[in-house]
Amino acid sequence: MKMEDKAFKKNILITGGAGFIGSHVVRLFVKKYPQYHIFNLDDLTYAGNLENIKDIEKASNYDFIKADINDADQIKELFQIHQFDSVIHLAAESHVDRSISNPKIFVETNVTGTINLMEAALETWRGNLENKLFYHISTDEVYGSLGETGLFTETTAYDPNSPYSASKAASDHFVRAYGETYNLPYVISNCSNNYGPNQFPEKLIPLFINNIIANKALPVYGDGRYTRDWLYVIDHARAIDLAFHKGKNKSTYNIGGFNEWQNIDLIKLLCEIMDKKLNRSAGESEALITFIKDRPGHDKRYAIDASKINKELGWEPSVTFEEGLMKTVEWYLQNQNWIRAVVSGSYQEYYKKQYL
Ligand code: NAD
Ligand code: TYD
Repeated sequence: MKMEDKAFKKNILITGGAGFIGSHVVRLFVKKYPQYHIFNLDDLTYAGNLENIKDIEKASNYDFIKADINDADQIKELFQIHQFDSVIHLAAESHVDRSISNPKIFVETNVTGTINLMEAALETWRGNLENKLFYHISTDEVYGSLGETGLFTETTAYDPNSPYSASKAASDHFVRAYGETYNLPYVISNCSNNYGPNQFPEKLIPLFINNIIANKALPVYGDGRYTRDWLYVIDHARAIDLAFHKGKNKSTYNIGGFNEWQNIDLIKLLCEIMDKKLNRSAGESEALITFIKDRPGHDKRYAIDASKINKELGWEPSVTFEEGLMKTVEWYLQNQNWIRAVVSGSYQEYYKKQYL
């Protein structure tokens, strides 16, 4: 601990802050709000990496706690010690393909872990819920799959298809139920696919950037005609900042960039950018595209209607997809040490099992 706790206006617990989105949220809050004491709790699974937040680790309003949200006793003890006023909960198992081969850990971390945090919060906040908030970060995948038209709104019925999305849907339901039953103050946001610096190379964009650099096959599931709605991670962090401060108690916000791409079109654009950046001849990266067996239960199309957060909170994305993708490619090219470190060890085993 670096400062007297009393000196801070709020003690905020951010879970999963060593992961992809969490690291950007932690950085934004630590830098923008010196009056808040930010506690980043993360168990440093394969997806957690302290390198992601190295630049702020010595900030006087920041502390890191290594802990597992599945350990209910330790979570309660940490709430008692640090008296967190608010929680921004991002810690999760986050990859659909891993949920297909090992669903149980998704139930443990995403459902039970979320309940453990809410139990600890309620116990600590009992009798005084004023200015308290449990902010649960979720995904658009809980809504299932869209047809050719239409968008997910906050009132779309939940219809999850993968163990990952089922576990996130269950956690959303529990948060809502804790709000109704125990009056837990909460906000939930459901965001579309994120991309940007520090994303683990199991997800489409960083996996393909890394494979293009290494001249390895680009494994496209099925016919590649699946649609995702992409948002730059910094814009998600900005939306979280707004919903945390201005979101209405017990409400849900959908977050997305109105930016739909079929996988194959996005991959071709990425190949074009990479050819230019790597001084390769046109078409060289595209030649690496390999169509492989489809993902079971593969959702056809996701697309978010983000008009509620736009109208109520004034949020809109700050970068276009082309700008965001360019920044992302440049980050990966400039941070080859980061990527070399994360693809060593257990990643190789995962890659072999998933693709070879
Ligand atoms: P990530 O996999 O990059 O990071 C998850 C983090 O949680 C890691 O740092 C990991 O160490 C930590 N963690 C995992 N299990 C833990 C446990 N038991 N205890 C403590 N820490 C644990 O994930 P991400 O892509 O940054 O996603 C963050 C959140 O945002 C997740 O809840 C995810 O469902 C949600 N989300 C992600 C996306 C996306 O496109 N990536 C989109 C919408 C919503
Ligand atoms: P992904 O990044 O895993 O996110 P999500 O499944 O949560 O949307 O995948 C994005 C899209 O890219 C999805 O339609 C699956 C597809 N995809 C591939 O075609 N090949 C791959 O190797 C990966 C990881 C994803």
